[in-house]
Amino acid sequence: MLRRQILNGMAGVGAGLALAALPGVVAPALAQETVKVGLILPMTGASASTGRQIEAAARLYMAQNGNKVAGKTIELIVKDDTGAADQTKRLATELVVNDKVAVIAGFGLTPLALAVGPVATQAKIPAVIMAAGTSMIVEKSPYYVRTSFTLPQNTTPMAEWSAKNGIKKVVTLVADYGPGLDAEKAFKAKFEADGGKVLDQLRSPLMNPEFAAFLQKAKDLKPDALFLFVPSGQGASLMKQVNERELTKAGVKIIATGDVTDDDQLNGMGDAVIGMTTSHNYSAAHDSPENKAFVAAFLKANNNMRPNFMAVGGYDGMALIYKALEKTKGDTDGTKLVDAMKGMAWVSPRGPISIDPQTRDIVQNVYIREVKKVDGQLWNVEFATIPNVKDNTHEAAK
Ligand code: DHB
Repeated sequence: MLRRQILNGMAGVGAGLALAALPGVVAPALAQETVKVGLILPMTGASASTGRQIEAAARLYMAQNGNKVAGKTIELIVKDDTGAADQTKRLATELVVNDKVAVIAGFGLTPLALAVGPVATQAKIPAVIMAAGTSMIVEKSPYYVRTSFTLPQNTTPMAEWSAKNGIKKVVTLVADYGPGLDAEKAFKAKFEADGGKVLDQLRSPLMNPEFAAFLQKAKDLKPDALFLFVPSGQGASLMKQVNERELTKAGVKIIATGDVTDDDQLNGMGDAVIGMTTSHNYSAAHDSPENKAFVAAFLKANNNMRPNFMAVGGYDGMALIYKALEKTKGDTDGTKLVDAMKGMAWVSPRGPISIDPQTRDIVQNVYIREVKKVDGQLWNVEFATIPNVKDNTHEAAK
């Protein structure tokens, strides 16, 4: 009987079943020593820079920290979803069913992150959000944990700063999908609570956006400032059109979340963006020993590519997975891993961060920054810190 099952297995007929039927005999030799992490990212298409940044950061984390945690070997499997949500879902399912990954992670845009929720819930494995920023994503599965940011988290401090700094009338222009709508709502709520007035709320399409008509409309309304949000990768084309319309010359101050003055593109935006004020969770210019070491290592490993806020989300996402595995002593049970992630706190290149145990969302400093030229390069130079900011929209956090 035993011999026949082994022979069946060796012949490749029902090998999995035959081996599973012999736990005491064969299983110890097959004890799961490898922990697979499935990283699903847009490596091609409009959000390819997000994929490139996150993969580079995850690989840097592993190069710096080794591939062994609690006696297990970590194996990273990177898949390109091309930015299409049906692909994200298909890849997540394959990673779970075929590769038996312990964790899925990445997800370059909100719709891509949302697509994996049902897979993570059913498989009971963590889905670590390293990029997407719409608040409600983490509410859609108890297995989501976020290491990126949320738009309300990053936007509210910009609204507060604006009201305090002589700006009375604002027009908002955001990408017309989850994070843009979150930014629009958060900006108006805080700015008007602080006495300002939002004159109009403009929305540009997410795909192949053409900003000129919206920018002309904003200019015609003569606001003190124009608040902008577009996702990573679109900032350069937006700012090119902002500069062509000469809004600053017309007396309109440009303010934004740091998604617009993305470190991946900032240096190529030209001197016209100098003086722009933004709020964000990460700048490559962040002045700390942890960040200096991170930026130097990242530049070196990636042919001088400057890390952006997506990179830091990926780096910290890998850190979270390593730390959770250490805490469970190598136990890969998905529910135990998520429990281990809740409340985890450490110092990231962006500053101190933690995972809110109630919401599984990230708590982090938000910085107010100004674009400046330093040693011939453009940087988001931080000049004020709002410490330990939580997303203020989750029911569980209220
Ligand atoms: C999202 C994507 C981005 O590139 C970004 O900068 C902010 C939010 C998103 O789709 O959630």
